[in-house]
Amino acid sequence: MRQQAAIALLAGAGGPFASAARGQAAALLTRAVPASGELLPVVGLGTWITFNVGADARARDACAEVVRAFFAHGGRLIDSSPMYGSSQPTVGHALARLGSPAALFSAEKVWVGDVARGAAQIETSRAHWGVQRFDLMQVHNLLGWEGHLPRLLQMKAEGRLRYVGITTSEGRRHAEIERVMRTQPIDFVQLTYNPADREAEQRLLPLALERRIAVIANRPFREGALLQSLARHKVPGWAAELGCDGWAQAVLKFIVSHPAVTCAIPATSQVAHVVQNLGAARGPMPDAALRARIAADVAARV
Ligand SMILES: NC(=O)c1ccc[n+]([C@@H]2O[C@H](COP(=O)([O-])OP(=O)(O)OC[C@H]3O[C@@H](n4cnc5c(N)ncnc54)[C@H](OP(=O)(O)O)[C@@H]3O)[C@@H](O)[C@H]2O)c1
Repeated sequence: MRQQAAIALLAGAGGPFASAARGQAAALLTRAVPASGELLPVVGLGTWITFNVGADARARDACAEVVRAFFAHGGRLIDSSPMYGSSQPTVGHALARLGSPAALFSAEKVWVGDVARGAAQIETSRAHWGVQRFDLMQVHNLLGWEGHLPRLLQMKAEGRLRYVGITTSEGRRHAEIERVMRTQPIDFVQLTYNPADREAEQRLLPLALERRIAVIANRPFREGALLQSLARHKVPGWAAELGCDGWAQAVLKFIVSHPAVTCAIPATSQVAHVVQNLGAARGPMPDAALRARIAADVAARV
């Protein structure tokens, strides 16, 4: 019963994992943000493409239902960016419809080369979401980070943000990400990590543990392409041992069982998928040996 042993270890006192509501069956697993100890469910929600639905009222309402299901099943962290077209107003529409859920952990980005325009962009984003302040503000793809970070850290000191971070994806600029992680007092780093994209395991994830930086794993499904490739193959027997109902949950369990990962942020336009994805934050987690097997099995199929 190595998975049970693993989950006992992960959920144990002093371990990085905790149950979102101890004692409640099927509560979401959480991880502590190292900078504060705040617990976050290990599965969040991305918004790139899936929430970029423009002014189409029916599509916006469908996204609101995804967000409703996300909160109803214990989700907290939603990630967006000024880069994601109409995704920010779509999130705002959903939050307004749900009466501004108290559980929300808002993760936004500043994405403008002209650093002087950063404050105005953050204010526009805030208006789109309809929140008082963002929980996390990340410098998107390191664009202008030297100029943005001092301002974001100042905003944090003034209580206008709670956490500051940086992002990258698809293995880009890892050397620069590492430099920022080593030299700047950031709380979060966001990067691509999944069983088929494991470069972050080499340096960035160990460094995040060492520097006590929370990690958000983006592109868990390679924008859906990973699941499409895997869908051609039967899920191996270990998936049932982990309580997975298919590849999506297996991929997410692989990601969030890395000790450095705080949260994975799959994006979806479908209620059934958001419920399925949050389901990966429940039940047994793979230990190191099974994680290696999952990675090998995925690599052999994509
Ligand atoms: N540099 C950066 O800062 C950066 C870069 C990339 C991404 N991100 C963040 O990371 C988030 C996630 O990355 P991503 O949007 O590229 O893609 P992703 O989460 O890897 O994949 C999303 C795709 O997977 C499908 N999907 C989701 N759940 C599924 C399930 N249970 N079963 C089957 N299909 C499922 C979705 O289709 P359906 O709609 O049909 O479910 C969608 O097409 C982004 O939305 C964004 O917030 C940040």
